[in-house]
Amino acid sequence: MKSIVDLRSDTVTRPTAAMRRAIAEAEVGDDVLGDDPTVNRLQERSAELLGKPAAVFVPSGSMANLVSIRAVCEPGDEIICDATTHSYNYEAAGPAALAGTSMRLIHSPRGIFTPADVTGNVRPPGDHFPHSRMVIIENTNNRGGGTVWTTTEVAAIRTASQPLGLHLHLDGARLMNACVAAGCRPTDYTRHVDSVSLCFSKGLGAPVGSIVAGPAAFIARARRFRKQFGGTMRQSGLLAAAALYALDHHVERLADDHANAAHLARGLAEIPGLRVNPAAVQTNIVMIELEERLGPADAFSARLRESGVWLMATGPRTLRAVTHLDVTGEQMDDAIRVFARLSRADQPASVRAAAAAN
Ligand SMILES: Cc1ncc(COP(=O)(O)O)c(C=O)c1O
Repeated sequence: MKSIVDLRSDTVTRPTAAMRRAIAEAEVGDDVLGDDPTVNRLQERSAELLGKPAAVFVPSGSMANLVSIRAVCEPGDEIICDATTHSYNYEAAGPAALAGTSMRLIHSPRGIFTPADVTGNVRPPGDHFPHSRMVIIENTNNRGGGTVWTTTEVAAIRTASQPLGLHLHLDGARLMNACVAAGCRPTDYTRHVDSVSLCFSKGLGAPVGSIVAGPAAFIARARRFRKQFGGTMRQSGLLAAAALYALDHHVERLADDHANAAHLARGLAEIPGLRVNPAAVQTNIVMIELEERLGPADAFSARLRESGVWLMATGPRTLRAVTHLDVTGEQMDDAIRVFARLSRADQPASVRAAAAAN
């Protein structure tokens, strides 16, 4: 196989030549002084796209979640979210360390929970308890395998959380994947939430940056905490130009990533030793479970890597493959062939001999 098939994440993409030109040509200024016209344009456009009064550009998805949490919560407050949630698992305990919040976890199928999960996890009043303050939905849900919430499911969470005074935040790192898969607009989701974050550096293919959108007072606080957490940037119009380019050119093509993921899942599902459910692949993430005889996921992933297929182990027997702008349909076939070869090689000699005889 000639090329490396890098399926570790959709964050591995490199800016295209056209995106690099947009970066080079960006008009810039000092954004801390409010002078960067390209950042201002991105913030205005994102606010409109997400149907919110205001937006702020931040360096990462983790910071987008963290400033949103800190804008709403005080130390001692609690967030209700699914156990798969990115900010709980993969943001270095930022919400606990930097916002002083605890997280009350829901264990739902593939990250999609119900209104009853919200009402059932609200704390009673009293000096002993954390204050339930916020609910986080992740769409698409990464650890759940790129699962897509329906707009009806999000609306139902809103109906349950609003009367309880809970702020509803949507971690929309991959919201555009959800919209492309569901065939809807971002506002079909965001009209049901108080605040939303969106990443430009994942499927959209920009090098850096996320946006947070919400009410003006919320964004003013998010902006203050961006400063406090060290996330203000100066001539960040260079990055905003890439994000604007991504919004213009890289949204509809997410359908190609979804088609590649579906193709990969169908191919892998045929291979003995792998458990893959093609029907569960809704966007650009494929979860692959290994049967015991194939050994631990990290060792199997190391062998895949030697053969040019890069992906991550997400559990003792689970691997995750993510499709993106920098991989092609043919590379899916290459990856399927490598999986098939390595799965065969791991079979006991008697099984291999029987397969060879057929
Ligand atoms: C759902 C979700 N939210 C937030 C993030 C954090 O983004 P970043 O890596 O830019 O901090 C990620 C990263 O993969 C993610 O998958």
